[in-house]
Amino acid sequence: MSEKPKVYITEQIWAEAVDWLQQYCDCTVWAGEGKAPREHLLQVLGNYDGLITTGSAVTIDEALLAAAPRLKLVSTISVGYNHFDLEAMRKAHVIGTHTPYVLDETVADLVMGLMLSVARRMPELDRLVKSGGWNSAAGEELFGIDVHHSTLGIIGMGRIGEAIARRAVDGFGMKLAYYNRSRRPELEERYGADYMQVEELLRQSDYVVLMIPLSDETKHFIRAEHFAMMKGSAIFINASRGATVDEEALIEALRSGQIRGAGLDVYEREPIARNNPLLGMSNVVALPHIGSATHRTRQDMMMLAARNAAAVLTGQGEAYIVKELQP
Ligand code: DGY
Repeated sequence: MSEKPKVYITEQIWAEAVDWLQQYCDCTVWAGEGKAPREHLLQVLGNYDGLITTGSAVTIDEALLAAAPRLKLVSTISVGYNHFDLEAMRKAHVIGTHTPYVLDETVADLVMGLMLSVARRMPELDRLVKSGGWNSAAGEELFGIDVHHSTLGIIGMGRIGEAIARRAVDGFGMKLAYYNRSRRPELEERYGADYMQVEELLRQSDYVVLMIPLSDETKHFIRAEHFAMMKGSAIFINASRGATVDEEALIEALRSGQIRGAGLDVYEREPIARNNPLLGMSNVVALPHIGSATHRTRQDMMMLAARNAAAVLTGQGEAYIVKELQP
């Protein structure tokens, strides 16, 4: 009987997903705190056919692949795969898979939450009430702005963008502008969305949501000149990847009052540095890259990553191979 393929998992994941995968593969899970460090992977990966990892765990680059000559698959428990060096993986004939679809609605919920939190200043008010400041919270200085019936501009109208659009239009009566590499006429019809170039979208929107994947082409997609085009009352939301925005320019735009506020789930450097000026700004709501983090969705993502691994390593079933590495 031939041996099962061997899979290394870089952090403790949902036990049911590991148990399921054990039927097809021989799994080893990092037993230490947090995520397996890169140095450890460089030492052990030579014995494995597959790797299950997360976006923030480790970069899959030439040096790592050189230490893993048997490796056929990297299955990431994330939809984003900017930690894949696609060229190096292609050269090493390593397939990369990810976990689309299962997190769309969960991330869209979080984006609506960020918009509401910044607009209605919820974290600030929460802190005030809990510290006994109820009376000082009644003043106009702590009033917010409306989300309903304002204009939302979505940059990157993929599946998550679409889930945000549905909430915004059907639930909040918002007017919708969008920019995407390819036009989505069906969404224009369904949601009355206006397709426009980024510059025009920035000028017109009360809320700007950035939802584009990070690649060489989209690094610093939003820069100082873009913040200068936005309304002074605008709120900027980023739940994609931190490096899609020039963070220095964002800090300056917030500091100078060029825009009203920001809701952020992602940063150029994660974990964010304790002295990052964003953390000292009351008009910024800062979350720890938690867009997909509900119990159920994270379990779905882990199970999907396990299924992807089994499919590629056994040659049975469908896997979500990232588009750049599809055969
Ligand atoms: C994703 O799936 O890409 C989320 O951002 C979590 O990393």
